[in-house]
Amino acid sequence: MVQEVHLLCKSQIREEQMCGIIGCVCRRDCVQLIYRGLARMAYRGYDSAGIAVCTPEGIELRREHGKLENLKTRLQREPLAGCTGIGHTRWATHGKPSESNAHPQMYGKIAIVHNGIIENYAELRQELIAKGHVFASETDTEIVAHLISEQYESSHNLVQAVRNALKCVRGSYGLVVMCADCPDELVAARLQSPLLLGVGHDESFAASDIAAALEYTKDFIFLEDGDIAHLTSQHIEISDLSGAAQNRPVKTIDWDITKAEKQGYPYYMLKEIFEQPQKITDTFRGRILEEEATVNLDEPIEKLALESCSRLQIVACGTSYHAGLLGKYMIESLARIPVDVDVASEYRYRDPIIGPNDGFIAISQSGETADTYACLKIARERGAKILAICNVMDSSIPRASDATFYTRADPEIGVASTKAFTTQLASMLLLAIYIARRRNTVDVGRARELIRALRSVPQQMEAILLKSDDIRAAAQKLLRASSFLYLGRNVNYPIALEGALKLKEISYIHAEAYPSGEMKHGPIALIDETLPVVVIAPRNSTYEKTLSNLQEVRARGGRIISIVTKGDEMLSKVSEHFFEIPECDEFVQPFLSVLYLQLLAYHIADLLGNDVDQPRNLAKSVTVE
Ligand code: F6R
Repeated sequence: MVQEVHLLCKSQIREEQMCGIIGCVCRRDCVQLIYRGLARMAYRGYDSAGIAVCTPEGIELRREHGKLENLKTRLQREPLAGCTGIGHTRWATHGKPSESNAHPQMYGKIAIVHNGIIENYAELRQELIAKGHVFASETDTEIVAHLISEQYESSHNLVQAVRNALKCVRGSYGLVVMCADCPDELVAARLQSPLLLGVGHDESFAASDIAAALEYTKDFIFLEDGDIAHLTSQHIEISDLSGAAQNRPVKTIDWDITKAEKQGYPYYMLKEIFEQPQKITDTFRGRILEEEATVNLDEPIEKLALESCSRLQIVACGTSYHAGLLGKYMIESLARIPVDVDVASEYRYRDPIIGPNDGFIAISQSGETADTYACLKIARERGAKILAICNVMDSSIPRASDATFYTRADPEIGVASTKAFTTQLASMLLLAIYIARRRNTVDVGRARELIRALRSVPQQMEAILLKSDDIRAAAQKLLRASSFLYLGRNVNYPIALEGALKLKEISYIHAEAYPSGEMKHGPIALIDETLPVVVIAPRNSTYEKTLSNLQEVRARGGRIISIVTKGDEMLSKVSEHFFEIPECDEFVQPFLSVLYLQLLAYHIADLLGNDVDQPRNLAKSVTVE
């Protein structure tokens, strides 16, 4: 029996993870506000969704499993109305998402939405069952609703009830609580899970994401771990678990909400691919000193003095990891500092060697990735200097870092990362030039050459994006393949990895990437006339070597799709499809090559009829390990 409870707990734990939550207390009907907020967070999870509101008759609830549209249909059939409400969109890896496991979870007069994990779930549940509690779901969140309800019945003070309940809980949470007796109040609490408050006119919000409330206010309070906030439409009061008042500043976020909309594109991913020239320009803005042939960084980054580190350690996950791999090539080649790059989930468990003479760079679009964050904490404890390269302002990773280089890509909604990647590359290259100039490992001439090359990237990207239709035509011919191989050397190897990841994520076609030189050591056995081999081979220092690898593919009948330097007749002749990039600096090539690979993955997925923005089994922000 005990074992059963434990097993339930484990699968359960995995079910309550990367979710989007929102709460709203206002003087108008809040259901639409909450629904639209959920729609903006749907990339966080899309297995089930729900909304609860306070009505004069008590709390009313609508929940549906599946995508948010299912909840919309339910709301059309069974409308809800009220001025105070909470909503949730959920992502699960294990166990069937179901209506009963969807949030909000309710018990007695209490309704709650929660993002995180209650680690002592099993023991709390057993204690409550012993007291006669009956559970309607398998979620750990329902336990918190029971605990708060017990506390509320004795104190009749919602904030105190939440505080007392949370004292019994171990784990992580971003949660918002509503009580049938308090129709004009919400209580929100945060511990190791993102949560912020929106300060509106006559209305207040709590949400896991800025985008969820950005349509209603630009003024936000970022809660700290251990904060409990009491929200009414007029006031917000923040305290900690002991009841001591906490002062948190209100910050104005100048993101334009239209930037988080599709603007006529069928998918966010396509819009975000096309935004890249502008986002690269934004990332460069104010950071390039053309005259001095160097890079200008914010004071906190300068103070870190990464140039005096004996070693740099980059840690990231997924696409951000690929940007880190490219960062290694850039920094080692230009600044001559050794750089190690690790996948965060590996780094954190191998007792890494890092100390005060090292610099630690965490790369993360969301700034919330749990594994990356955990590595950062290890590096911090061991005294390393911490730099974040991040897209989301004031997210957890920047807040735990000594300094942050913001990528300025604006909200990235498509689950498959695109503009975050190229702005991370731009940031890495700027950082490499900056460190190189400080260490005097590149002269003014080479720095000027690189800066000019960087300046021309947005325009060169625009020209490549014009070829989207050609890529769609190639995609049409390739989409029946059951597997792809991606090859690249040197700076093109991380691009091969990124191309393969994009294809896997959204088309569900198997793809593998290899350094071209590794082909003969195994993968060459895969090649036959059915296997598309995507070769990233623009002319650079390793071009000749790549050519000979290609001959090996050709000799075995593989279907070659190549990315080549304009005018490369030799490669274009042997390729079934070829895509050209202009002659350019080796460090600029990845910015251009990757566009073809993003578009190829996009068009194949779209032609296969997949939901490009919300691929199966994935969530945008991986806030647990
Ligand atoms: C792939 C993708 C993921 C993320 C990874 C890290 O398209 O988006 O692989 O790159 O989950 O996320 P961040 O950068 O938010 O830490």
